Amino acid sequence: MRRLPTGPTDKRELMEDSIESRDETRYETGVKKEYANDQIVVTWEPAYCIHAADCLDGLPAVFDPWRHPWIAVDAASADEIADVVMRCPTGALHFRRLDGGDQEPQPPDQTIQLRPNGPLFVRGKIRIEDASGHMIREDTRVALCRCGGSENKPFCDGTHRRIGFRSGPRRRSGA
Ligand code: SF4
Ligand code: FES
Repeated sequence: MRRLPTGPTDKRELMEDSIESRDETRYETGVKKEYANDQIVVTWEPAYCIHAADCLDGLPAVFDPWRHPWIAVDAASADEIADVVMRCPTGALHFRRLDGGDQEPQPPDQTIQLRPNGPLFVRGKIRIEDASGHMIREDTRVALCRCGGSENKPFCDGTHRRIGFRSGPRRRSGA
């Protein structure tokens, strides 16, 4: 019987258990799935999804990890879907409007948010390069590992939860 989500942790477990998340190719960088109607195309890159569940919280009728396909773009308006997609902190979700609606904006500022016991959520015009200057990823939203345990560095892959990473108290600056 299908379990109903009761809280954030439970929702993350649902995602990790879900049909598409069990796909063995999900961690391969470059896998990009598309879900579309004639108004909007939503793309999902499983390699960057850490099951933060912001999408499930925002539009559970659209983002349902127990359904196949798990994203149903006909279950809400394109505006509502675009709004929730932009909340995805990892950049796993993006959209393209086909109906003349606004495309994803470039964030005007760059921010790095320290998540308690978790990754760094970075927003802005982001370009990540390797030591030789080769581009690894360009995006407007990424989650970077700070526990050291990710198998998809520099990106968070959710390992911090499994290993019980604790970020500790933050030092005050300028004191
Ligand atoms: S909001 Fe993004 S990272 Fe979080 S579960 Fe949805 S797709 Fe994955
Ligand atoms: S912070 Fe998430 S895997 Fe390291």
